[in-house]
Amino acid sequence: MAADQVLETRRLERMEDLVSLCARRGYIFASSEIYGGINGFWDYGPLGTELKNNLKAFWWQRMIRERADVEGIDSAIIAHPRTWEASGHVEHFSDPMVDCRACKKRFRADQLDDAGSCSSREGTSEHDLTEPRNFNLMLQTRIGASEDAASTAYLRAETCQPIFNDFKRVREAARQKVPFGIGQIGKAFRNEINPRNFTFRSREFEQAELEFFCHPSERAKWFEHWKEERLRFHRDLGFDDDVLRTRPHDADELAHYCKAAVDVEYRFPFGWQEIEGIHDRGDWDLSRHSEYSGKDLSVTDEATKERYMPMVIETSVGVDRTCLALLANAYCEEVIGDGDKRTVLRLSPAIAPIKAAVLPLSKKLAEPAHALERDLRRHLNIFYDDAGNIGRRYRRQDEAGTPYCVTLDFETADDGKVTVRERDSMAQERIAVGAVIAYLEERVGFPA
Ligand code: GAP
Repeated sequence: MAADQVLETRRLERMEDLVSLCARRGYIFASSEIYGGINGFWDYGPLGTELKNNLKAFWWQRMIRERADVEGIDSAIIAHPRTWEASGHVEHFSDPMVDCRACKKRFRADQLDDAGSCSSREGTSEHDLTEPRNFNLMLQTRIGASEDAASTAYLRAETCQPIFNDFKRVREAARQKVPFGIGQIGKAFRNEINPRNFTFRSREFEQAELEFFCHPSERAKWFEHWKEERLRFHRDLGFDDDVLRTRPHDADELAHYCKAAVDVEYRFPFGWQEIEGIHDRGDWDLSRHSEYSGKDLSVTDEATKERYMPMVIETSVGVDRTCLALLANAYCEEVIGDGDKRTVLRLSPAIAPIKAAVLPLSKKLAEPAHALERDLRRHLNIFYDDAGNIGRRYRRQDEAGTPYCVTLDFETADDGKVTVRERDSMAQERIAVGAVIAYLEERVGFPA
């Protein structure tokens, strides 16, 4: 039996296995780890940062660069506080929560199954809960030296509100006409009562959002268009139909600004969960910002002279949640032909943090290997490793999700060839050193 034959594959069943791999390999780990971490905050290490940047670059390419009708921006995290009054967040953006009078822990009233037992009461492990109260999820800060109410500001709870603030400026500066969109990627903050499932529900996270402005008569058409586009995006990331689905919201689930919504869900080990929301926000945002700012944000149709408030179709994907879904989807434990086991991250090459590892069979081959590494680094993210047994070096790259390993051996000097090993099939082929860049570049791009 061939040593590189896969006999058994087990996909991710327990999140703990992924959490442990992510910490070990430097993908994602607790923020401020040396102080014991801080609940709901995560740091991305070298591999995680590359993964996240690749995902964001793909989104930016698809949603902004490839579209003449979409502009990209990068707004401040803190907006004028009136923004959040206009958006409805000050009034509505809350979860019902209860406190335990005994152990002082706080829980979401709709997630009491996760509350566990109380360790502070005698004779019972039941929590002594208060009545539910609404708890606003926006994180507050103060601006300037004064401590009065006027200095209160909010870290943005969603990246889209500054897009509405900038709508008129961007439309005029970019000479766009409705229908058109504005997108941005950036940090958002929510004081989640119960952060959980690794990065899935965090207090600081990134969103990639598109707000697409259209005439009221075209909102259904654009809603369908963006739903299909976003599904294509997720499929191109490598999610198959058995782990990806859409779920329309029932009327009683809709957020205060929403007329219709569809979630894109991924099947995590802890169940089907939202990674993206596609929302028909109607004219809620532009109308409210017109009212609160006193600036008219309606537009005129040049052909008909009709004056109207554009409708907004939004696509809002969580960057961290999608990274988590990509990692969960890629994680495999395999038993291979020689009885050996390996853990492999089957990330698509386009999203993988390291595209290829250069692995000389011996340290004596370091000079030509470093020369190849330097050449490749000008094009792609490359890793170099000349320490230890080649089998163990392959395993380390499998676990990091590196799709290709390029091995130099003692014949390389004679025949000018290297061995390229593909991560998933473990198939090897010999190609000319001068052809390696083209070979890799052909295989690591995003689908057009
Ligand atoms: N602008 C609309 C909006 O923010 P949302 O459904 O609240 O809608 C959109 O959030 C996406 O942001 C979600 O699908 C999810 O991927 C991500 N997201 C929301 N809250 C999150 C959290 N606490 N931690 C990580 N990601 C979150």
